[in-house]
Amino acid sequence: MRPNAGSDTCLPPGPRLPAQLQFAEWVVRPWRVLDRNHRRYGDVFTLRLGPRIGTFVPVADPKLIEQIFRGDPRTFHAGEGNRVLRPLLGPRSLLLLDEDEHLRERRLLLPPFHGRALASFRELIADVSERHLARWPSGTVVKVRPLAQALTLEVIARAVFGVSGSDAVERACRLLGRALAWASERRRLFAFALLGPDRMERSGMLRSALAPVEELIRNEVARARRDERLEERDDVLAVLVRSRREDGSALTDAELRDELITLLVAGHETTATALAWGLERLARHRRVVDGLRDEIEAGEGRALRDATVQEILRLRPVIPLVVRLLKRPVELGPWRLPAGVVVAPAIYLVHMRPDIYPDPHAFRPERFLERPPGTYTWLPFGGGVRRCIGASLAQLELAIALEQIVTRFDITPARDSDERRLRRAVTWAPAADGEVVLHVRQPASRGVPVAA
Ligand code: HEM
Repeated sequence: MRPNAGSDTCLPPGPRLPAQLQFAEWVVRPWRVLDRNHRRYGDVFTLRLGPRIGTFVPVADPKLIEQIFRGDPRTFHAGEGNRVLRPLLGPRSLLLLDEDEHLRERRLLLPPFHGRALASFRELIADVSERHLARWPSGTVVKVRPLAQALTLEVIARAVFGVSGSDAVERACRLLGRALAWASERRRLFAFALLGPDRMERSGMLRSALAPVEELIRNEVARARRDERLEERDDVLAVLVRSRREDGSALTDAELRDELITLLVAGHETTATALAWGLERLARHRRVVDGLRDEIEAGEGRALRDATVQEILRLRPVIPLVVRLLKRPVELGPWRLPAGVVVAPAIYLVHMRPDIYPDPHAFRPERFLERPPGTYTWLPFGGGVRRCIGASLAQLELAIALEQIVTRFDITPARDSDERRLRRAVTWAPAADGEVVLHVRQPASRGVPVAA
């Protein structure tokens, strides 16, 4: 335990390497940093990641994570912890807000991701997925992530942005895809972290990369405001244009821009990356694929399918940790952490705990049939008042796509060894983009309808 000079706070132990070195390794191989320091120092340790990110305390103990997720939002700021994303998402993005302002906006954004609205997306997703899968190549090595991104992008263009008509959807996907490819390059993370949000916000390159997407959003919002059938629409943009805060105020155009870009950035690459990991795992686990097909053929529920989605997200969490910036000192286990520190519930480390997940490196969906995921032990979507608002939509997309894929294709590995990880901007993705070999199955063995 290391007391901080001149104060009553004390930080958990951690490596003493210079901050620049810790930052460089963190950017390139964060899993190595987490594994090594977890082994050496235990469930809570301190990393010093330089002036932009600061003092970082990963936490791998579910009890302490519960304390963080249930903690007072005035003490645990997630929005401020995400400030590096402000130039991209805009200052009114849900991801960047804190306290009452965050809860107010979150209440507006939640409804289109639940209940009737979510149910209405099922058919849309099944339809988009079927059309995309029909174009996926057969009999050759394919990189799943870009194919899956095209699929999730179309789901977002239709379900979130409310774009309709095939030409308009195609154009929207092209514009959104180009801007996202620009924003998610790894060197961009360096630029964002090194320049800081203020300088990055003034960058002409960023402004021109985002301009076409901003124009698309302006046009879709204007179209929705004119739409006489707005009440009947379930897409997220339409619900947001209709919604009112408790004081009767509506979201402004600027707020809508920030929230829609946030949904695009938060929802598109994450889901596509999870699908790519899913196929990379299924290609090496024929037994699971057979089980999924048996379940589909039996037509009695989809427990194994849903457990498979849960296991993919456990074993290869797309977002390995979440952040909370402390606004005041906090007692966490034996430590008293000072204000200004970033505590980071370490999703990846919790998911690899053998005491919670025996044989944690094994891909074994049945574990979730035996014991359903726990609120503080299965964390791919974070937790507390910041838990991902797209969690149900993402799981629905993954479940429908996986079901259609195992029905349509045989999946075999494209290489001998498991695919390594690569850090993209904020996600951990398969290094070769999820390479597998797909073979269209015989027509007689296909055509099973998607179930609830
Ligand atoms: C497999 C896919 C996805 C994963 C792994 C994922 C993961 C996450 C994580 C870890 C967080 C942070 C939670 C926290 O700080 O505790 C988050 C937040 C968020 N996600 Fe997702 N997400 C996915 C899909 C989506 C989708 C499809 C959407 C919407 C279209 C979405 C929208 C958001 C938003 C708006 C937030 C901010 C919530 C807030 O701050 O209140 N995500 N997501």
